[in-house]
Amino acid sequence: MDDSSISKLSDRVDFASKTILEWVEQDQPITVVSHLDADGLAAAGIIGSMLERLNVAFKVRIVKQLDEDSLKELSSEPISPIIFADVGSGQKDLIYSNLPEHSVVIIDHHQPLEYELERCVEVNPHLFGIDGSRSISSSGLSYLVAKSVDLNNVDLAPIAVVGALGDRQDSGKRHNLVDLNESIVKEAVEAGFLEVKFGLRLFGFESRPIVKSLEYTIDPLIPGLSGNYNACLKFLERIGITPVDEDGNLRRMSDLSSNELRSFMVNLVKYMLSKGIESKEAESIMGTIYIISHEPPTSPLRDAREFASLLNACGRLGVPSIGVAICMGRRGEVLDKAEKLTSRYRQTLLKYLDWLSRNLDKVRQTRFLQVIYGGDYVDDRIIGTLISIALSSRILSPKKVAVAFAVSPEGKVKVSARADKALARRGLNLGLAIRDAASQVEGVGGGHDVAAGAQIPLNSEEDFIEVLDKIIAEQLGSE
Ligand code: C5P
Repeated sequence: MDDSSISKLSDRVDFASKTILEWVEQDQPITVVSHLDADGLAAAGIIGSMLERLNVAFKVRIVKQLDEDSLKELSSEPISPIIFADVGSGQKDLIYSNLPEHSVVIIDHHQPLEYELERCVEVNPHLFGIDGSRSISSSGLSYLVAKSVDLNNVDLAPIAVVGALGDRQDSGKRHNLVDLNESIVKEAVEAGFLEVKFGLRLFGFESRPIVKSLEYTIDPLIPGLSGNYNACLKFLERIGITPVDEDGNLRRMSDLSSNELRSFMVNLVKYMLSKGIESKEAESIMGTIYIISHEPPTSPLRDAREFASLLNACGRLGVPSIGVAICMGRRGEVLDKAEKLTSRYRQTLLKYLDWLSRNLDKVRQTRFLQVIYGGDYVDDRIIGTLISIALSSRILSPKKVAVAFAVSPEGKVKVSARADKALARRGLNLGLAIRDAASQVEGVGGGHDVAAGAQIPLNSEEDFIEVLDKIIAEQLGSE
């Protein structure tokens, strides 16, 4: 990532902000279309706050997938400018065929289609040789646009950090954000909105009772402890840490002596090793923590990773508007609802992880793939997160690409695919492979080098797997 790439991206960001300001000047109502995952909701929240502050009429649409159906719905509405966030770059052809007269801004970090779309400003790091899967997310790009519109929007930087963490862009050695994300972190810290520490990557470990932060952490997954309050209590007692003080209050990290804290860390890593997690993975429970300074100590929004998990819960359990509202600063009742959704989301994910662990013998192995058939048991909106966690916690092997299928309520097959970064270093580009394989079975797909998704017709799964295995063999140079 050199200075000239950054400067070209920055020019494109300014062009997008100028275009949006022109729409505002013409008093045109704006539609924002974004994706239902944490990065998509964070991007929509940042753009929503930016537009709200500009006093322009706007509405937000959150889509599971930007496909013919969602674009047809948009085409039935009166023509108005559209900002696509975290979607769009891979679907420019579909945008053109469904919305040929719309003015469009695309703010997306997915690998773009080589396609010239008229009346469109596309802000995408890949166009300038910047890796959108690690350097910056769609919420980070949205933040850059918002800041180009008005420097006062710097207060939205923590939401960009949340989105990047939601998209697992913490790819630095210490699980830290890198490149352009790192610059956003720096701005947020300098403006007093964010604190960065090195410590245990347990949700809210700085602020919550220890037993609760152990229980609430599902990513990384701590087998046997995540989601199980009583098991967490017993674990603490077993390693000699009293979870409750003399007055009956649950103890927090700040209540522990330095010896207790050290013992907690050592024993947690040992425990993970005893559960078959490799040492590198177990030790990665230590890492960089991002704390949003103005959120109250017990809030699920204080720890940026936990905030991202809450957004995923809202988006993937069907109430994305709550996630967007929270990113736009709403609290009170909406936050209460989001907390309930998060608890349900955690339980659902744990149920799926348990199901997968018990059915590993049914995972189909091909040369380069491990294939999970979720059928209609696994929610199509959650299957991607399921295999992300299963791969990072080594329930699934990092040596092969994980591909999972779930049948959506619309009667289509949702495909999610994930791979270890080591495979990308050997030449794997999952986004391109999935896009190509999906198009060969009349589906649509795309994404990043190590995380991609698709939608394919029912009963095309086996053809898809055959094609995908071949494409990956070619990418890895081992046909
Ligand atoms: O849906 P899932 O979480 O598996 O998607 C993984 C990544 O691939 C996400 O970043 C998603 O936006 C992207 N994707 C895509 N095109 C699709 C489906 C998913 O770019 N058709």
